Amino acid sequence: MLIQNKIVFITGASSGIGEATAKQFARMGAHLLLCARNIESLNSSALQLKDEYNIEVYPIQLDVRQKNTIATVFQALPKKWQQVDILVNNAGLAAGLDFIQEGSLDDWEQMIDTNVKGLLYITKQILPQMIARNSGHIINIGSIAGHQVYPKGAVYCATKFAVNALSMGLRMDLSGTKIRVTTIDPGAVETNFSLVRFKGDAARASAVYDGIQALTPDDIADAILYSATRPSHVNINEMIILPTDQASISLFSRQPAREK
Ligand SMILES: NC(=O)c1ccc[n+]([C@@H]2O[C@H](COP(=O)([O-])OP(=O)(O)OC[C@H]3O[C@@H](n4cnc5c(N)ncnc54)[C@H](OP(=O)(O)O)[C@@H]3O)[C@@H](O)[C@H]2O)c1
Repeated sequence: MLIQNKIVFITGASSGIGEATAKQFARMGAHLLLCARNIESLNSSALQLKDEYNIEVYPIQLDVRQKNTIATVFQALPKKWQQVDILVNNAGLAAGLDFIQEGSLDDWEQMIDTNVKGLLYITKQILPQMIARNSGHIINIGSIAGHQVYPKGAVYCATKFAVNALSMGLRMDLSGTKIRVTTIDPGAVETNFSLVRFKGDAARASAVYDGIQALTPDDIADAILYSATRPSHVNINEMIILPTDQASISLFSRQPAREK
């Protein structure tokens, strides 16, 4: 399926997987609606993408948790930008790594509000025009953590299990339409993810990737682009993508001196 001139809305496009996905769609000639909280970062990649790929980019500062703002921001967009062809629900995070009995309520709320409720709010905002046009693709970024749980990760995993359930449910609820629903479920990808989880503790964050060749954001952007470019009768339901050095959610083959 050609995606040239399609409108692609990517949440969490200011860094990591979302930023890499924006670049890959730009390279294919799509026009990009990008959101995140960090508008400076969005603005600077918008300038670069417009310049390099001769496409249109519309950056918006938006916190996906703010349900009352989402509709207002969206309805204020020029009509063309409201007709989203492909929605990539990527904004998300892990906050903390704690036993449930020791977990922080604020961390839990941030994860649930962003990864589950934010994804729902955005999807509900975008879906009606897709249904009206009987066309569209929703690509949710889940995780291997939506299939397996690890100690101290129960709440993050619960949010990603929810993303998986929501993707399955959406597929059912949209049955009979031409709208496709995909989840892309990565293992360890080296981004700001661990730095955010450990609240800026760079040593702890980089230890997550010690001795393994982690996935890059582009590895996941490739899979997103692949799903979006299948013929319209083909729906990639789900892709689980792990580094070769990761055999399950918590089993890594770490080489002390492995070159990255
Ligand atoms: N890295 C991994 O190992 C891994 C593995 C499996 C799944 N994932 C998933 O992949 C997705 C992207 O993560 P990443 O690895 O690329 O991490 P990242 O580099 O930290 O990027 C996260 C993105 O989400 C945005 N975001 C966070 N909270 C937001 C909010 N409330 N409203 C709007 N945007 C928000 C951030 O932008 P602002 O801070 O500017 O708002 C940023 O652009 C997440 O859903 C994550 O759970 C990551």
